[in-house]
Amino acid sequence: RERREEIWSPNHAIELIKSSKKIVVLTGAGISTSCGIPDFRSENGLYAELREKNEFDLEDPHQMFDIHYFKQHPHVFYSFAHKIYPSNFQPSPSHRFLALLEQKDKLLRNYTQNIDGLERKAGVQRVLQCHGSFSTATCVQCRTKVPGQDIEADILSQRVPYCRACAKAAPPRPKRKKAKKRKSGWQSDESEKEPPPNPSIMKPDITFFGEGLISDFDDLLSKDTEQADLLLIIGTSLQVAPVSEVVSLMPHAIPRILINKTPIKHANPDIVLLGDADLIVSYICERIGWTFPAMPATLP
Ligand code: OAD
Repeated sequence: RERREEIWSPNHAIELIKSSKKIVVLTGAGISTSCGIPDFRSENGLYAELREKNEFDLEDPHQMFDIHYFKQHPHVFYSFAHKIYPSNFQPSPSHRFLALLEQKDKLLRNYTQNIDGLERKAGVQRVLQCHGSFSTATCVQCRTKVPGQDIEADILSQRVPYCRACAKAAPPRPKRKKAKKRKSGWQSDESEKEPPPNPSIMKPDITFFGEGLISDFDDLLSKDTEQADLLLIIGTSLQVAPVSEVVSLMPHAIPRILINKTPIKHANPDIVLLGDADLIVSYICERIGWTFPAMPATLP
């Protein structure tokens, strides 16, 4: 991509946001760090923690989200999943900025890589959770889908959830012998120590390495690239394809603004606003004269 001749300043960013009508916003973990959710690749991010503490004995921290590793060692993911399970977090000013863009009828789409659901909690409707969410879960074997709530208790208790549909379809277990009464009290027979009849594991519908993205992604992106008039990239290292490809698939003529703590050279931005995303979007809003909308009273 050829660089623009002109050198653009933060003032141009404000003008562009003011004048644009179909903004695509690509977001990542950096917009949720102020909510208390660590990102992945910063010094104090999730991968550094997994590497340094090594409490799960992983060769590589990415294994925690690798589908092949998950199928072989589901207990590892389920010993950890409660730490990333979306609980009582509140949206950051960056999430509320997205809601504001939507309220001003400027948001074409927010492509988020985050699984915390905080965009929706801030009231954003035009959001695509590219890496899925905990709101549903699917059996890795028979693909039965269930509401995420069905496996919530297992996640919070660090247990591997198994598929009830597979268990129902499985041939009945051989009848157990009647337990014998011993002097020391009731003692179960050996069959009680067998593993569950059909250990088909449920997996929350968050995207793991080695899995495809949710089906809407390609269709929506091809429509959006035709309409977009501005690309905003906020709080992401753009390390993970295919979401990172949103940047290269956008037509060259569309200006792109990067708002991030650290520079991301391969984003090839026209304007770089380096620093804390919450502070930067709050400054932009103040300069435009926008005030953040109140949070929705009832959560969607
Ligand atoms: P990363 O951790 O890779 O990148 C987060 C970026 O946000 C970094 O460049 C930080 O410098 C920046 N950042 C952190 N705090 C910030 C703040 N307060 N203000 C502005 N910038 C800030 O996270 P993602 O790019 O979202 O996927 O990671 C993409 C995917 O990699 C995730 O969805 C996840 C992960 O592996 C899967 O697990 C499939």
